[in-house]
Amino acid sequence: MIENIKILNKELKVQFSDKVEDNYPFIWLRDNAKDEQNWDSRSNQRKTFTASLSSNLKIKEASILDNGKFLNILWSDLSSEVTYSYDFLKKNTLTHKIDSSKFRLWKNNINKEKIFINYEDAISNNGFKIFLKNLYDYGFCVINNCKTDISAVESIAKKIGYVRQSIFGGLWSFESNENMADSAYTQEELRPHTDATYSNDAPGLQLLLCCQYKARGGESIMVDGFKIADFMRKEHNDLFKILSTIEVPGNYIGDGVCLESKRPIFKLNLNKEIVQISFNNYDRGTFRLKNDLMIKFYEAIKKFDMMANSEKFQWRYILKPGELLIFNNWRILHGRKAFKGSRKMSGCYINKEDFDSVCKINNII
Ligand SMILES: [Fe+2]
Repeated sequence: MIENIKILNKELKVQFSDKVEDNYPFIWLRDNAKDEQNWDSRSNQRKTFTASLSSNLKIKEASILDNGKFLNILWSDLSSEVTYSYDFLKKNTLTHKIDSSKFRLWKNNINKEKIFINYEDAISNNGFKIFLKNLYDYGFCVINNCKTDISAVESIAKKIGYVRQSIFGGLWSFESNENMADSAYTQEELRPHTDATYSNDAPGLQLLLCCQYKARGGESIMVDGFKIADFMRKEHNDLFKILSTIEVPGNYIGDGVCLESKRPIFKLNLNKEIVQISFNNYDRGTFRLKNDLMIKFYEAIKKFDMMANSEKFQWRYILKPGELLIFNNWRILHGRKAFKGSRKMSGCYINKEDFDSVCKINNII
């Protein structure tokens, strides 16, 4: 609750009951006024013309209401008071942190119940929330008892957001067959990677449905990139710094396009929390650093890649027809062991912002 306030020269000092205190600049508070005159509550958009606010803005009066649940301010340029809630002010203290402990980091052991969910449950009202929470917490799930055609991919995608269009189209199907020559149909091992390091906005989710499996081998591999980053931050901090600061280019050249993007393998936010893993050794472009740093970079990706390729950090599973693997491409590296025979798969991508959106709507984040 709000315990005390003090009007300073250009700031309002607010003390909360848990002893946290913060000084909010007048201009910031005035800019974030959410009364009828300044805020459209229907569209959640600002009405205030911020650039027109005076730099000599003053607080005429301020008072605490409802035992500290609210704060009222009468501004020098407005005729009626503006109300600010405790929740709003507390959430916007400079020391407020996002609770990243919600992520359940894992190495290779995960409770099966958290990962597998039945299709009918996943699309039911309650089941969908459970599925979404586990997908958010662990980074991947397997939905079983799906129809073995592309319509199941579309149904799940539409439940979450919408199918992303990319150079591969929207919904896609492919067949891996030893009798087909094209490398796209490879049966060779695919080492753990994230998709679209060449895109400025890599897909947030990838869905992969097994439609047919007449083969031996081909285990799908999931690796928790956040776990590896966390481990490297603690145990190999010099290499962690390299991977979190050096921008690595990714390329997709062919099929009539030339896509390129670059970012660190561990992308951090301003609080130094990890927000995205981008690692694809197949698609990495060519770049130079000063020689000492270049050599250190190779040392760092070697450490990272050896861990991603170690069974200690891998969850492995052979997808059967009707099983749909869905994973967070900003966190989980995916791979597949070699196989012999034929496999038919369908899938699609979903944008990261749409995954975040559905998690927010369902109070998961
Ligand atoms: Fe991939």
